[in-house]
Amino acid sequence: MSTTETQISSLRYKGDHLLLLDQQQLPHHTVYINVTTIEQVWDCIKKLNVRGAPAIGIAAAFGIVLWAKSHTFLSFPEFKEQLNHQIAFLSTSRPTAVNLFWALDRITASVANVLETKEAVERIEQEALLIQKEDEEICRKIGENGLTLLCDGDRLMTHCNAGGIATAKYGTALAPLYLAKEKGWNLSVYANETRPVFQGARLTAWELKQAGVDVTLITDNMAAHTLKTKQVSAVIVGCDRVAANGDTANKIGTFGLALQAKALGIPFYVASPLSTIDLNTPTGDDIPIEERPAEEVTHVQGVPIAPKGVKVFNPAFDVTPHEYITAIITEKGIARGNYKEALAELKK
Ligand code: MRU
Repeated sequence: MSTTETQISSLRYKGDHLLLLDQQQLPHHTVYINVTTIEQVWDCIKKLNVRGAPAIGIAAAFGIVLWAKSHTFLSFPEFKEQLNHQIAFLSTSRPTAVNLFWALDRITASVANVLETKEAVERIEQEALLIQKEDEEICRKIGENGLTLLCDGDRLMTHCNAGGIATAKYGTALAPLYLAKEKGWNLSVYANETRPVFQGARLTAWELKQAGVDVTLITDNMAAHTLKTKQVSAVIVGCDRVAANGDTANKIGTFGLALQAKALGIPFYVASPLSTIDLNTPTGDDIPIEERPAEEVTHVQGVPIAPKGVKVFNPAFDVTPHEYITAIITEKGIARGNYKEALAELKK
C-alpha cells in the first residue's frame, strides 16, 4: 500500500448518514461517529470531533445534505426558506475558518436556479460530493506546489494539524510530506504538540507516524530551541482564513512560531487552498477569533491542572501578519511579496 492509501478519511458519506472520524478520541481510538442529523453535525464541528478548515466546510455541506434529504416533503418555497435557516444555523458552529461559510455559500448557489424541491435536494447532494472530491485534488496540488520549495532531506516544523484528517485527503501543510514519501524523498518533520487541545500530539504525530513519515514530537515551548539547533529548513503550517492582504489566521501559537522563524532566518510557509483565502476580509484585524471554553486550558484530557476558578483566556487562533510569511502555497500557484495583488490574481 502507498502512503496515501493508508490515510484514514475524516468523513464518509453513506447516503442517509455520515461517518465522521471522531478526532477527539484520537490517537487512542479510531472511531467513526454515526451522524444522521444537521444538529449532530453542528455539535461535532463545535466540539472538534471534526476540525480543520477544509474538513469543517465538507462536514457542513453534508450536514445540509442530511437535512435536505429528510425534508423532501416541503413545498419548494418552504424548502428554500428553511434551507436558509439551516445554513444560518450551521454558520454559528465556529467563526474563524472561512471554509465553513465558503462551503455553505456553494450549497446556496447550487440551488439558485432550481424550481422544485426534489431537484434542489439532488443538487445539494451533488455539490457536497463535489466539494469533497475537489478538496482531495486541491490538497494534492498544494502538496506538489509545496514540494517545489523543498529539497530531499529537508527537516520541517509544523503546528497544529493541517493533515489528511483536516481535509478530504493529504492535508495542506502535510501534503508535501505525503507526496515526498511517494517520490521516495526523505523529509522529516517536528510536530509541535499544540496546546491547549493537542492537535499536534494527538493528530499530526499520529497520522504521520501511521503513514511512515519521519515525525518527532516536541512541546510548543521547545520550538525556538529546536529551530535554532536542529537545522530546520522551513516551517509549514495550514490556515483557517487568509485575509486579502495575506495576514493569516491559524491555530494559536502560529504567530509566535512565525516570529521565531523570522528571527532565525528560516522560511515560514502557509499552505492554503484558495477556498481559505477570503478577499472580503481586508486584513487580519477583521478576522473573527474564536474563544473556547476555559476547561481546555485548566484541564488536560479531563484532568484539572490549574487552581479552581482561575481566570482563563483561550483564543483558538492567532493572526500572523503577512510580513512574517515567506510564501503562501495554493493549488494554483505560490504567492509571495505583494500578497494583495498575488492573492487577487490567484483567486480570479
Ligand atoms: O481548531 P482546529 O483544530 O480546527 O484548528 C485547525 C487549524 O488551525 C489548522 O491548521 C487549519 O484549520 C488548517 S487544516 C488544513
